[in-house]
Amino acid sequence: MKVLSGMDDAQVVGIADLDPERAGRLAAECGAQAWPDAEAMLAGGRPDAVYICVPPGAHGAPEEVVLAAGRPMFVEKPLAADLATAEGLAARVSAAGVITATGYHWRHLDTVATARELLADRPVGIASASWWGAMPPPPWWRLRSGSGGQVVEQATHVLDLLRVLVGEVAVVHASSSRFGHAGPADDPDVVDDATVALLRFRGGAVATVSATCLADRPHRADIELVAGGLALELTEEKLVSADREWRPVKDAREAVDRAFLDALHADDPTLVGADYAEALRTHAVACAIATAARTGAPVRLDGAG
Ligand SMILES: NC(=O)c1ccc[n+]([C@@H]2O[C@H](COP(=O)([O-])OP(=O)(O)OC[C@H]3O[C@@H](n4cnc5c(N)ncnc54)[C@H](O)[C@@H]3O)[C@@H](O)[C@H]2O)c1
Repeated sequence: MKVLSGMDDAQVVGIADLDPERAGRLAAECGAQAWPDAEAMLAGGRPDAVYICVPPGAHGAPEEVVLAAGRPMFVEKPLAADLATAEGLAARVSAAGVITATGYHWRHLDTVATARELLADRPVGIASASWWGAMPPPPWWRLRSGSGGQVVEQATHVLDLLRVLVGEVAVVHASSSRFGHAGPADDPDVVDDATVALLRFRGGAVATVSATCLADRPHRADIELVAGGLALELTEEKLVSADREWRPVKDAREAVDRAFLDALHADDPTLVGADYAEALRTHAVACAIATAARTGAPVRLDGAG
């Protein structure tokens, strides 16, 4: 809302939240109208496009309402807490033919473009992606049914970058542990506190992924890559090679919204970073890790979602 309110060619006209107090507070901040739910907002506010920023477990119904109205939509990551909901919505998005964008803003870092250039003629052989931090405050985050777990909800950002910089994932192995940090360890709906995964990419690269919410602060969120004669480290703040460091020039959290607005103005869906179908491929990798960790069995992906 803050980013969009600062843009000349956008106006936030409505805020829908099942919690009327939150809808009213946010709407007052930006001079928009508050609505009790998406259906009322679509019918009464007639917006040109809709941002869907509900918790992962609440995706499904809001998208159905927006798609039924034929409106373009920006969907926050992750697309859902599970894979089936997102796959069902992807089919509906495809049938509706509307422009979509998703909240994978790391793709919009100019340092990611630099990394792509550096890796253009040398495929990545090995990579590591990490998301080590503290427990986020929203109560829904602690439940698989609410958030999908930490890999689905948070590490999905670095999984998305692995897909951008390394390629499509073919096979996933994973293991995870619970120490009662997020809730009773014997409650199957409580999220894991620590997860590690091994990925094999279609091109032959291998990677490790690790995530934990046991820390006391954001400790690390990064990817490291090694290609022939090149080692890179990428965080949201910088890209580092053996002898150089790059800092992002533009704010990726603004660029992701700018790209969506540009796509709407030009009626050109290719201007967004990750549309719904593209985001589904990243979500499928995250869900594969969650499934592999839960079952102990490897999960093969077909790369199509
Ligand atoms: N791209 C990013 O880096 C980034 C950053 C922050 C949050 N997010 C994502 O945004 C999503 C929301 O996170 P948050 O921290 O704002 O959560 P939050 O719990 O603070 O807010 C979510 C709001 O959605 C409302 N809601 C739930 N179901 C609804 C429905 N069906 N219709 C309308 N409103 C509904 C809730 O009442 C709540 O006010 C999460 O998926 C999170 O991962 C992404």
